[in-house]
This record gives sequence, structure tokens and C-alpha cells, in this order.
Amino acid sequence: MEKETKIGIIGLGTMGNAILERILEKRIFKSQNVFINDKDKKKEKKISERYKIRPSKLNELLAQADFIILAIKPRDFLSLNREISFPKDKIVISIMAGVKIDSLKKTLKVKKIVRAMPNLMVKIGRGVIVWKEQGLDFNEIKIVRRIFNALGIEIRVKDESLIDQATLISGCGPGYLYFFEDLLLKSFVRLGFSRNFTLKLLLNAFLGAILFQKENNYKLEDLLKMVATKGGITEKFLETLKENKINKIFEQAAQNAYERNKKIII
Ligand SMILES: NC(=O)c1ccc[n+]([C@@H]2O[C@H](COP(=O)([O-])OP(=O)(O)OC[C@H]3O[C@@H](n4cnc5c(N)ncnc54)[C@H](OP(=O)(O)O)[C@@H]3O)[C@@H](O)[C@H]2O)c1
Repeated sequence: MEKETKIGIIGLGTMGNAILERILEKRIFKSQNVFINDKDKKKEKKISERYKIRPSKLNELLAQADFIILAIKPRDFLSLNREISFPKDKIVISIMAGVKIDSLKKTLKVKKIVRAMPNLMVKIGRGVIVWKEQGLDFNEIKIVRRIFNALGIEIRVKDESLIDQATLISGCGPGYLYFFEDLLLKSFVRLGFSRNFTLKLLLNAFLGAILFQKENNYKLEDLLKMVATKGGITEKFLETLKENKINKIFEQAAQNAYERNKKIII
């Protein structure tokens, strides 16, 4: 059945492109059943050539596809509706941060909606996708799950506010990690360590640390105790952060990001 189902992706930026790549790689849909469109025609052409998929005009995509992934920025969403109208029977999968199911329904005038919050790791099939649907039947939900399973771990929720929480945690999470990695890298390079050597070690230490935590299901405080032994080097590093009120900085950063997230909700 999935073989005959058609999918369209509107917006081929970082996320739309990543989702397209996985869907094709995992053969969730035949390539002739995949329709793509981006406002940026240069980008559209490049992606179309890379994946050998003919780009479609928005109206064609909307007419052909059963499932339509909206991978555009929330600010572009409001103007999108002035350009085109969505056929009522289509299933819209929105990955836009902060755009609620009610707003999607009201603006697009469709009855079947999936609101999802993925993260960039969908590109390698290791994403986290928190989602909620409205109006889909059993088979349609099954297809949504197949799409999301190709992208990573899917977590279906009943409470829509959990999707906004996911934006802050898993949507932005990779960005937090990269920032800390960069801070550590710069601090060690300042001590005269080689950049490449440090980066290679940091990357593999973090990767191993996360896998170790996941496989053993240890509590965070126990993991910390295992590494930060009394009077040791890790402890010294962490003590310095605490003395400089790292906890307060984190609380403030989380609060500010939370407020920003609340502001963008429409
Ligand atoms: N990036 C992340 O890590 C991440 C994670 C989770 C969720 N999201 C959500 O995913 C969505 C896409 O994010 P992104 O980072 O992929 O953004 P992006 O890189 O800016 O990609 C969006 C693409 O959509 C195009 N576009 C805008 N309006 C359009 C229209 N009316 N029709 C067709 N194409 C249109 C844009 O073209 P122009 O560049 O010409 O405007 C751009 O190429 C956002 O809503 C974001 O909240 C992102």
C-alpha cells in the first residue's frame, strides 16, 4: 500500500533535505511517488539533480501527494496560504516549531494534521521525533510511523505542549552539545593541544559516554561519580564551573530559550 502512497515535501532546507534523503534511502516511497518544491529555485534544482526527482509546482505537489511535509520556517507559513490552497483531504505533516495544530487546521483548512518536532539527526536516521496527530485513520497513522521510523525514534504524545517542550530539548539539543564541544575544544587548544587530536578525542569520548549511559541505564549522578573521583582532575574542572555559577547560567539560558519558544507559538 505504501508503494502507491505519494508524498510531497515543501521546503528543501536543512530539514526538508534531510528527510527527503532518508525517505529515499530507506525506500519508504518510490522516487516517482515523491514530489518536492522549494521557493529557492537554485536549491530546488540542485536537490532535484542530486536525488533525480523532478521538482513540482506547488499546485501539482498538492494535487498529487497524499502526505505533505511542511518543512518551511514558521514565518513563511503565514504567507504560504496566500499563494495556494490545500485540498481538504490531504494529510499535512508539519515540522515547524511553534505552529500549533489548531493554527495549522485554521490556516490550511485541512482536517488531517500531524504536528511533529524532529531534530537534525534525522539525516542519519538517529533523530528524535515527538508528534501528535489529529483526524488520521489507523492506516494513515501506520504510514506516518513508517516515515518517522526511517528518521529515528518516534514518540507519539497526547498532550501537544510536550511538542513545545521537545523543541527546547531534542530540537535544540544538538546545538547545545556542539556549543559545549566548541568551548572545550577552544579551551584545550589554548593550552597548546592540537586541534585535530582534541576534536577526535572529544567526539569519541562523548559518543562512548552517551552509548555507555544508554546501554547501562545508569543514573546521571552515578555516572558522574564514576568519572569525577574525589580530588581528581574531572572534579577540579567541574568545581571551577560550579564556583563560577554554571548552574545559574544554565537556569537562565533555559528560561530565556523557554520564553523565546513561547513567543513564537502561533
Ligand atoms: N533546523 C533544525 O535543526 C530544525 C529542527 C526541528 C524543526 N525544525 C523546523 O523545520 C522547519 C525548517 O527548518 P530548516 O532549518 O530546514 O529551514 P531552512 O533551511 O531555512 O529551509 C526552509 C526552506 O523552505 C523554503 N521555503 C520558504 N517558503 C517556502 C514556500 N512558500 N514554498 C516552498 N519553499 C519555501 C526556503 O527557501 P528560502 O531560503 O528562499 O526562504 C528554504 O529553502 C522550521 O519550521 C523549523 O522550525 C528545524
